[in-house]
Amino acid sequence: MGDIWGDLRAHSAAKSGRRILDLFDDPARADTFSCRADGMLFDYSKTQIDKGAVSLLLELARAKGVEARRDAMFGGEIINETEGRAVLHTALRAASGPIRVAGEDVMPGVLETRARCFDFAEAVRDGRFQGQGGTYTDVVNIGIGGSDLGPAMATLALAPYHDGPRLRYVSNVDGADINDTLQGLDPKRTLVVVASKTFTTIETMTNARTTRDWMAPHVTDPSAQFAALSSAADKAGEFGIPAERVFGFEDWVGGRYSLWGPIGLGIMIAIGQARFDEFLAGARTMDTHFQQADLADNLPVLLALVGVWHNQVQGHTTRAVLPYDQRLSRLPAYLQQLEMESNGKSVAMDGSDLAVHSGPVVWGEPGTNGQHAFYQLIHQGTRVVPCEFLVAAKGHEPDLTHHHRLLVANCLAQSEALMRGRSLDEARALMAAKGLDGAELERQAAHRVFPGNRPSTTLLYEQLTPFTLGQIIALYEHRVFVEGVILGINSFDQWGVELGKELAIALEPVLTGAEDGADKDGSTRALVAAARAAGGI
Ligand code: F6P
Repeated sequence: MGDIWGDLRAHSAAKSGRRILDLFDDPARADTFSCRADGMLFDYSKTQIDKGAVSLLLELARAKGVEARRDAMFGGEIINETEGRAVLHTALRAASGPIRVAGEDVMPGVLETRARCFDFAEAVRDGRFQGQGGTYTDVVNIGIGGSDLGPAMATLALAPYHDGPRLRYVSNVDGADINDTLQGLDPKRTLVVVASKTFTTIETMTNARTTRDWMAPHVTDPSAQFAALSSAADKAGEFGIPAERVFGFEDWVGGRYSLWGPIGLGIMIAIGQARFDEFLAGARTMDTHFQQADLADNLPVLLALVGVWHNQVQGHTTRAVLPYDQRLSRLPAYLQQLEMESNGKSVAMDGSDLAVHSGPVVWGEPGTNGQHAFYQLIHQGTRVVPCEFLVAAKGHEPDLTHHHRLLVANCLAQSEALMRGRSLDEARALMAAKGLDGAELERQAAHRVFPGNRPSTTLLYEQLTPFTLGQIIALYEHRVFVEGVILGINSFDQWGVELGKELAIALEPVLTGAEDGADKDGSTRALVAAARAAGGI
């Protein structure tokens, strides 16, 4: 492989003075630099990417072995090398097998657990499985990270399909979270789902014990109203949750990739088996597309290449994810874990230093809210923030199509404004039309200049159905995978979260005063002293 990174940077630098808007002198640009698949349209024409860039990016993907690595993942090979595990969240949504890990077909186990989850979810929904006070009115999912963000995001996204009990998600160890969540709930009609792959995560276990204590005075046996979603059935058993209500998954499912199986139980309870099946079918459709489409027409590959172009080639360190879809308001938080826990690493798979920067900082909020908050910086700040818009062609509120029209207009207008900008001459003309002249016109005009030429992509889908949501999540999962392969990262471990956890455990006795913390630095000691002085610990 020659120096493709160098070639890409040289290509980008050579075209740096060019306006994106001018690229549309080519009438075919929108068509050439977009991709349609299974009802989705990904438009990346409002970027500096041209045919030369695409061919270099595709050369990079091929040189890094994206196709072989993809096939190894779907084939159950041990591609999570630092943990010695296969990576098979795709098996959780597969319709049938065989899918083998170390020669053994995992699908019988997957299908059996899926059927158990569906049975349980339907029993909760139709009242065959009840709390001590009758049919469950509420379900509280206690989990954090991948055991919270995915199912919480998806449950909210599919609100129009909810026909089961209310779902609430608790994650933070801050007592405010569990306290506020349990407010107003009837302990006799609340099902508690403890979601933790390891069943050791301190936040989740603390919240689970607190919830059991909350329930205990009101029911004869709180554990009768608990279920567990975990790979550690033994630990769930020690907590008191009987095996028939423990839904397990294997170590080849990473936490942040786990909502397709038992960790998605809350979604199943909210929308029912048939809708959840559609959700899985959407993800499967994306899996097939990812496996079969040529790299040049492959949605996850294109999203990844656009990401690499903006981050590693052009040096833009953040990416804003801007869903013009209120029910995707938790998508940015979900993607923060998916992308940053997966690709936020400075060590390559082989232990060497990463040759290029790790994945970008991902952030965002739904539109149009963000427009009235941080878009100021996106439009006029000194740094360029590549933006990723998502929008549905159709809303879910037939009586409110005028809302939806406004929503779509705003989404498209933002990407247009980012690209087009407003020149000083245009700003001057605006000020002159308002009656200004002279120095005051010049001063006011300067503030109204938009540099423009700011890149964005748009993902347009028909409607946010369970099927579409499955497609979108699988699309992002695979995008993260492709980016990881290109960067040479193992996207499936997360060693960077460990140190803080260890130090928090060590600090607790210092906060109680049981240890003096003499080994701590001056800042930490002073903060501990101040917190202790205020009381309440
Ligand atoms: O601390 C990070 C992490 O391990 C995530 O990767 C994971 O999703 C989360 O904690 C929760 O872990 P568990 O499901 O084991 O409680």
